[in-house]
Parts: sequence; structure tokens; C-alpha cells
Amino acid sequence: MYKTKILITCPKGIPPFLKQELLLLHYPVLGEYIAGVETEGTIDDCMRFNLFIRTGHRVLFLLKEFRADNAGELYRELSGIPWEEYTPDDGYLCVTSSVDNPSMKDTRFANLKCKDAIVDRIKEKRGQRPDAGPARDRSVVHLYWKDERCSVYLDTSGEPLSRRGYRKIPLGAPMQETLAAAVVIATGWNGSGNFINPMCGSGTLAIEAALIALKRAPGILRSNFGFMHIKGFNEALWNELRDKANKGAEKSFPGTIIATDIDPGAIEAARKNAATAGVAHLIEFGVCNFADSLMPEGGGVVVLNPEYGERMGETALLENTYGSIGDYFKQKCRGYTGYVFTGNPSLAKKVSLKPKRSLQFFNSGIECRLLEYELYEGSRKVKKLKASAVCPDGDEPKQ
Ligand SMILES: C[S@@+](CC[C@H](N)C(=O)[O-])C[C@H]1O[C@@H](n2cnc3c(N)ncnc32)[C@H](O)[C@@H]1O
Repeated sequence: MYKTKILITCPKGIPPFLKQELLLLHYPVLGEYIAGVETEGTIDDCMRFNLFIRTGHRVLFLLKEFRADNAGELYRELSGIPWEEYTPDDGYLCVTSSVDNPSMKDTRFANLKCKDAIVDRIKEKRGQRPDAGPARDRSVVHLYWKDERCSVYLDTSGEPLSRRGYRKIPLGAPMQETLAAAVVIATGWNGSGNFINPMCGSGTLAIEAALIALKRAPGILRSNFGFMHIKGFNEALWNELRDKANKGAEKSFPGTIIATDIDPGAIEAARKNAATAGVAHLIEFGVCNFADSLMPEGGGVVVLNPEYGERMGETALLENTYGSIGDYFKQKCRGYTGYVFTGNPSLAKKVSLKPKRSLQFFNSGIECRLLEYELYEGSRKVKKLKASAVCPDGDEPKQ
């Protein structure tokens, strides 16, 4: 297929990391937006992005850009696209949209108009209407309509890329995989030194850290993507790309990853998720209060994602936790760089240390910060890591 613009979407705050990933893959950055980065390429390039990009959500292949002031114009323009060349004969279609046009009181109507234009065109060409519905596991078309400007795309991801396929057991407030990858990239950790993740919950940060250190393609576990449901899907090339990705991945890395949580259920879930991701043998798990996590010598990064407390009362309890994080950093984490990821700025102040850097992210629409603390080395002696004792005073979970 021909070369066109490709928009890779992501949550707000992530574009600088996504841009960095694209440049490392040797693709040009044509535009950087509030929730996406634009590049160019073919459907084959979209396959590469779906396999290798860690911080993007959807890879959108541009079919057409046009002006439309109302639903009639939208329908006419969309009817001119040769949909029969993109959707397989036994195809099923899902239309998603992002619409902000004054003529559209109900954005669902734009969606419906878009779907009608596609199925009517296909019926005219093939004599048969394709099925359409909300499931994103087959052909997905995305309509972006802002004021009078329309862009229509093939969504080559289908389900968002944050669904890597390893998180079988989510807990209360898990971090999205794409966001966790961006946080790990922001810390600069690349597999050497220690990556300590107390309060690990379902283990997303530790798992993403392991995948990054191994240079393992984040899309390798997924068996379904939108591009597989576009007519002419090049399965041979996809298998070739996967083989190349597998060959390019490392089997181990020099650093150590430790993930602990006070909740044994969380550690059980994290361990299972890590096993599904194929990295459980590379992470030391333990059940303990965060401050009791073993800090191996040599320094590295220590990343905490405490709850932010959405209800009154919870916040009061969490004030103590955030205060203790400050003590933990000062007393036990010297020689490390500390990070707190939180969506609650007043709780963050309770850490009582001056952050060196504050990066803005968004987690499920909530503005969050990744706060970085430089924790200078003192004279304190640190214990050497024993694989069996990541929480020296805590319980070891059963294997
Ligand atoms: C917001 S969740 C972390 C989510 C995680 N990033 C993920 O992706 O699943 C916070 C975690 O902190 C743990 N936690 C709360 N207080 C703790 C403490 N004092 N010591 C250790 N873990 C604690 C909770 O059990 C919970 O799993």
C-alpha cells in the first residue's frame, strides 16, 4: 500500500517519549500534538509501530483529509473512498470517532453517518453489506472531525496498544502499560543498576522495566491487531518482523528488579502477570511495607506509585504514608534516584523533599506528576541483595 501520514495517539504528557521512540526507529516526526505524534509510512510501517512502540495507544493510517460542514458533506466525501479495497469480503467493521463540529449535537450521529457511508459503498460494489458494531477486534475505522476539518483513518491497532496481553489479573488502580513504559523511560533506567518498585500493585512498572531492559518488543505477546483485518494483510512480513524482534531481544540484563507490596494478593497477581509476560524469573518479588524493601548496593532508581486517595478520609490516612516515603528516601535510598508518581499534589508535598524534576502525565484523565528526587550517597552501609530476601523483615510469598 502507498505511503501516507500516520498518527500515533497516546495519553497527554506522553508525546515527548513517543517522539523519542519514533526517532530511535528512524522515522521522521512530522507533528507533535497534545495526545499524539505524526509520522509517515506504509501499512508495513504501521505493523512495525504496533510491534515496537511502547508508549503509543493507536496507530492510525490516514486515508483521506477533507472539509465537511455537515453530515451530508461528510457522507459524500466518505462515499468516495474505495472501502472495498480495504475491508475483507467477509469483513466486520467498527467505527470510532472524535468529533467536535457545531452541526453535530450528538457525536454518535457522525459515527453512524460514517458507518453508513462505508457499508453503503461496500454494498454497491460487492452486493453485500458488511456487519458493523462496537467490537474493535477486526476492521476499525477512525473519524476525526474538528470544526470543518475531517481526517479518516484505518486504525491498524484495533484494541489499544496498552493492552499488551500480559495483565491477566488487574488490581484496584493499575497503571496503563503504555504509561508505565513512559515512566520507566523517564527514569532513564535501561537494565543496568537496580530498579526498585515498592507498592508494585499488579506489577506493571516492574514488568515494563524488564521488557525495556530485554529490548523485547512490547507487541510480541499480542495475537490480534487491526492491520490483520485489512485486505491484503502481509502475513509473511508480519512473521518476519516478529522473528526479527525475537532475535533482537536479550535473554537477561545486568541490573536487578525488585517489586514489593504490602498486599500478598497484589504480589500474587504481579507474579502471575510477570509470568505471562515471560519475565517473572527476572523480578524479585516480596511482601512487605515499602520501607522494608531491600535496597541493594550500587544505586539505581526507586519508583513508587502510592494511592492518591479520591475520597475524604483516605487522604488523611495517606498523608502518613507520603510522609514516610520522605523518611524512607532520606534514610534508606541514598545513592538512588527516587521517583513518586501521584495524582495528588497536596499529598506529594508531604514527602517533604524538594523534587529535582516534575514531569506531567495523565492517568485515566487525572493529571499526575512523576516527581524525581536526587538522594545523595551518605556513609550508611547497605546490605547486599540476597535473592531470597527482598523484604528482610517481611513474609515471603509462597512460590
Ligand atoms: C496505586 S497502587 C499501585 C499500582 C501499580 N502501579 C500497578 O500498576 O498495578 C498502590 C499499591 O500500593 C500498595 N501499598 C499501599 N500502602 C503500602 C505500604 N505501606 N507498603 C507497601 N505497599 C503499599 C497497595 O497494596 C497497592 O497495591
